[in-house]
Amino acid sequence: MIPYRPEPLTNFQTETNHEALFEAIRQAQDALGREYPLIIGGERVLTGDMQISINPSNKMQVIGRVSKANAEHAEQAIQGAHCAFLTWSRVPAGQRARLLFRAAAALRRRKHEFNAWLMLEAGKTRAEADADTAEAIDFMEYYGRQMIEMSETAAKKLVWMDGEDNDLQYVPLGVGIVIPPWNFPLAIMAGMTTAAVVAGNTVVLKPASATPVIAFKFVELLEEAGVPAGVVQFLPGSGSEIGDLLVSHPLTRFISFTGSREVGLRIFELSAKTAPGQIWLKRFVGELGGKDGIVVDKDADLEAAAQAIVASAFGFSGQKCSACSRAIVHEAVYDAVLNRCVELTRELKVGDAIDPGSDTGPVIDESAYRKIFESIETGSKEGRLVAGGGKAEGDGYYIEPTIIADVKPDAVIMQEEIFGPVLAFCKAASFNEALDIANNTEYGLTGAVFSTNLAHLELARERFHVGNLYFNRKCTGAIVGVHPFGGFNMSGTDSKAGGPDYMQQFMQLKLISEKL
Ligand code: NAD
Ligand code: ALA
Repeated sequence: MIPYRPEPLTNFQTETNHEALFEAIRQAQDALGREYPLIIGGERVLTGDMQISINPSNKMQVIGRVSKANAEHAEQAIQGAHCAFLTWSRVPAGQRARLLFRAAAALRRRKHEFNAWLMLEAGKTRAEADADTAEAIDFMEYYGRQMIEMSETAAKKLVWMDGEDNDLQYVPLGVGIVIPPWNFPLAIMAGMTTAAVVAGNTVVLKPASATPVIAFKFVELLEEAGVPAGVVQFLPGSGSEIGDLLVSHPLTRFISFTGSREVGLRIFELSAKTAPGQIWLKRFVGELGGKDGIVVDKDADLEAAAQAIVASAFGFSGQKCSACSRAIVHEAVYDAVLNRCVELTRELKVGDAIDPGSDTGPVIDESAYRKIFESIETGSKEGRLVAGGGKAEGDGYYIEPTIIADVKPDAVIMQEEIFGPVLAFCKAASFNEALDIANNTEYGLTGAVFSTNLAHLELARERFHVGNLYFNRKCTGAIVGVHPFGGFNMSGTDSKAGGPDYMQQFMQLKLISEKL
């Protein structure tokens, strides 16, 4: 088999790609406003209760009307997954992996189509949408290969014992609940779903309520690739109505969650309680929020640092768990870095995600929009507003990229995840102090250091306590297989999506020893 290689990104400077994307957007626009059913055991179920998905770039535009599941549907979905597990778990690993490769090939062929829906439903610019689609392809190519390798090599790692035949096999767990976030509505949703499935599990996928149409299209793609009915149930619904029920059901074997600290901790706690009739300890794989910092040393390439800070802070309007929301800069270069970041930030054009001239689009919804402005208000009292701070033009949830300078390490905007285009600048008297400030958060997801001082980079390697640490580059944009992704402390269980140990979390190992 050809070894895994990350999917190349699309060059939109070529006329062909530019035109193809525009045609895909036009076709998606023709298909707006449709109704989408639940999928349970392969059956389509249209419920009377619909959730409306809208375009954050244009609040009046309805992307789709998506059926919402109730408690009865949730029960049916778990039973459907449980039933399908009996056969799916016996399908050989290679066969399961081939279905992922087929789905990856189909997604590669339909890249422009999925990019178009990402731009319309999530407000991603074409570059961000394309990276999301490429990452979804990568996850399937990578996890498929991991599964094959693990199934072929587990027993080879055993030590020889005379007179015995020893075998080690990976066995799937059972029914999983997959709860992804809306901010990588294709990549993270697809990665979480297909890792669980290629391991031999069946799942109930509860998509994020802001981006259910993309999730529906992906589940359809899996079906078209040959994934049998009942392996993936598509079950949109509210956390309060079906979330608890799915998590606490006795047939639920594991929960794979990516989202906020608040919701993640609640699900973690709920999953630790044993339901009547439950005969296992549920597994919880949880990737949560971040409060990620970039440290700039006094001996650093200041232009590269400023470019990276702005890209990491404002790409996709700061709506990445990996986004830089704190710049921690040595006092000797603080003014230079801050001034350059302000210049670069003021050059950013905020606008409709489908406009190729937009550097960044809207934030996702009304609730995010309000919360981000509350944070800007808090931050403006904690520091000096030096860029942005207001609404940007348009009928969507547009917010100007915002920088607040001279913020103290313990300030609220240095501690709480904002998940929007807001960057705090904080001054450090020394490199050591900068590392202290960088570590002074409950989270520990990503971080970066800009320095040409090798001793300082060594120090950071040892002391900067984050799951993904980058030197002299931005702190966003992890690539599957290249930068396994996951965080420390309140950023989650460090499951390292796109890494060599990720798949293990969805399986258990069985040792079979025969006396000869
Ligand atoms: P969220 O916690 O609001 O929602 C996450 C998912 O949980 C959604 O699908 C939502 O519908 C569901 N949910 C909400 N309440 C629920 C309940 N009671 N029961 C079951 N499900 C429930 O997060 P979000 O706004 O979708 O995503 C943004 C957050 O995700 C940020 O905190 C970000 O840092 C984090 N995130 C983390 C990573 C990572 O890899 N660490 C990646 C992406 C996003
Ligand atoms: N994996 C994404 C990144 O690294 C969140 O930016």
